[in-house]
Amino acid sequence: MDGIAEYRFVPSIASLKRFFLPRDGIPQDNSLGGQQLDELPYKTILCDVLVVGAGGAGCRAAIEASKQNLDVIMLSKELLGKAHTSMAEGGYNVSLGNVDPNDDVETHFKDTIVGGNHLNNQELAEILVRDASERIYDLEEMGAVFDRTPEGKIAQRPFGKQSWRRTAYASDRTGSEIMVTLTEAIRKTSVRVFDEVFATKILVEDGRACGVCAVDLKYGDYIVFRAKSIIMATGGAGRIFKVTSNAQLDVGDGYAMAYEAGAELIDMEMIQFHPTGMVKPESAKGRLVTEAVRGEGGILLNNKGERFMNNYYPKVMELAGRDQVARSIMKEVIAGRGSPDGGVYLSIAHLPKRIVEFRLESMIEQFGDAGVDIREEPMQVSPTAHHFMGGISIDTKSQSSIPGLYAAGECTGGVHGGNRLGGNALADTQVFGALAGESAARFAKDHKHTGINRQAIIAEFQRLEAMLTRKEGISPADARDELTELMWNKVQIFRNEEDMEEAVKELKRIEEEVVPKIKVQVSEKRFNPGWHQAIEFGHMVITARMVAEAALLRKGNRGAHYRTDADPNEKGYYNIIIEKDDNGEIALRKKDLVITRITPP
Ligand code: FUM
Repeated sequence: MDGIAEYRFVPSIASLKRFFLPRDGIPQDNSLGGQQLDELPYKTILCDVLVVGAGGAGCRAAIEASKQNLDVIMLSKELLGKAHTSMAEGGYNVSLGNVDPNDDVETHFKDTIVGGNHLNNQELAEILVRDASERIYDLEEMGAVFDRTPEGKIAQRPFGKQSWRRTAYASDRTGSEIMVTLTEAIRKTSVRVFDEVFATKILVEDGRACGVCAVDLKYGDYIVFRAKSIIMATGGAGRIFKVTSNAQLDVGDGYAMAYEAGAELIDMEMIQFHPTGMVKPESAKGRLVTEAVRGEGGILLNNKGERFMNNYYPKVMELAGRDQVARSIMKEVIAGRGSPDGGVYLSIAHLPKRIVEFRLESMIEQFGDAGVDIREEPMQVSPTAHHFMGGISIDTKSQSSIPGLYAAGECTGGVHGGNRLGGNALADTQVFGALAGESAARFAKDHKHTGINRQAIIAEFQRLEAMLTRKEGISPADARDELTELMWNKVQIFRNEEDMEEAVKELKRIEEEVVPKIKVQVSEKRFNPGWHQAIEFGHMVITARMVAEAALLRKGNRGAHYRTDADPNEKGYYNIIIEKDDNGEIALRKKDLVITRITPP
């Protein structure tokens, strides 16, 4: 057993035993035998439940699964605790009624469906709003500290398109508070955390998900993780767009891997462009400016000093849906009423300083670094790619269309329909993280490990190896720039047939001509960011293609999908299912909505 202990995060006798003892009669498989062993050695590690991703959903899933006395492994592409969840700022939606006593689960449900433009899977949305309260109390029990009302209850602030003040928060660093809490909680469990390990392929055997191929980014080692059930919690893919609020690692790994494995994905065209991202400095372009700024009373102004939301959504103004506010901002910019750097102004200078200092402390720091004192001066903001409403299609147990493969958080689709309410994402991570953890644990208890297809493993590791050994080729950084520029220019907030057709055509060309020629400059396998980028690029292309193809299929306007050449007769009350067909091509089909209680108008 070569060097396995170096991967362990939480040392315990129990987990050591698990490494060295065969499980379910399957011997530890550390060799391919013969020639291939010399060429591409890999390690095999067994567990009961494998969680891919270590953000809010992944950690919550791992915690839940570990309660069942199972061997749980969680893979983190970065160091534990650095996941994108920690960049979620404004809050967690839950109808506690602590500030507005009339709020209840039913109103939260209705707001979620109306906000989602009726495309939500209503069974999933019901689970979200129903379980959000239990899950926030779990977080409190684990040690999370949310801001309080004067009576000592969890405080709640207003967020867009919601009937009541419902968004629980910890200043404007709510995601960070949740991640710190979950990271601490994970350390108290027997979950084995593998930091800086990048899963690249889901293995499927006998119609069941049974493991993943992965690379240890630190040492460059290839590893196969074999599991009885797998939970995908890989987050979104904002990074396929040039301007995004997302962390570097959000490139669509989960979407691409699930697609390649044969899972169904849903509504990949539905991308949320958060209305307010930073505009400058260039290095911070797209960085999130939390909706909490508007929730606390911030106003949007054009270069004439007009509060322009009055011309678009006068009843709700800055707290219209995110899709609506983003389009309104873009209309102002296109009409020449934008700020000097291509955005609009967001001002809270009229608010009492103590409110700003207490509730928006990260914003003060974020803009302070850019030389703007938001207590006195307006911020420049413009839309930024923020959240994928679409993703891996799941059922009410959080299971994908592949038995044994579960998913939770942003990598799933269907919960939020065509437009997610701000604050529903953090709740989603906890509700569906816990659900996926529980369901995957049950599955693992009821099943044994499957066999494994070594040819598929070898092919995958050879694919990764080729990026290092190719003599000539295209740099992953250049390839990424080309793709993110294309997506930003052609599949953005305002879309049209011609642009999207061009995007699809270009993406096919990139897939056929660029991906097979990706060449990493440095062939060293130990921590080689160029190689990581190259591997990620393949996932980005598949994800981008799904987005563009689904967007092209949807001819009308619905939620975040808005075409300047929309078919006015298309109401668009359907979902789009995407999967890989028998020829290895993207297949799309329209599917009826899952409606339990609210019928679309
Ligand atoms: O604006 C924000 O604070 C983001 C929250 C969210 O996407 O839920």
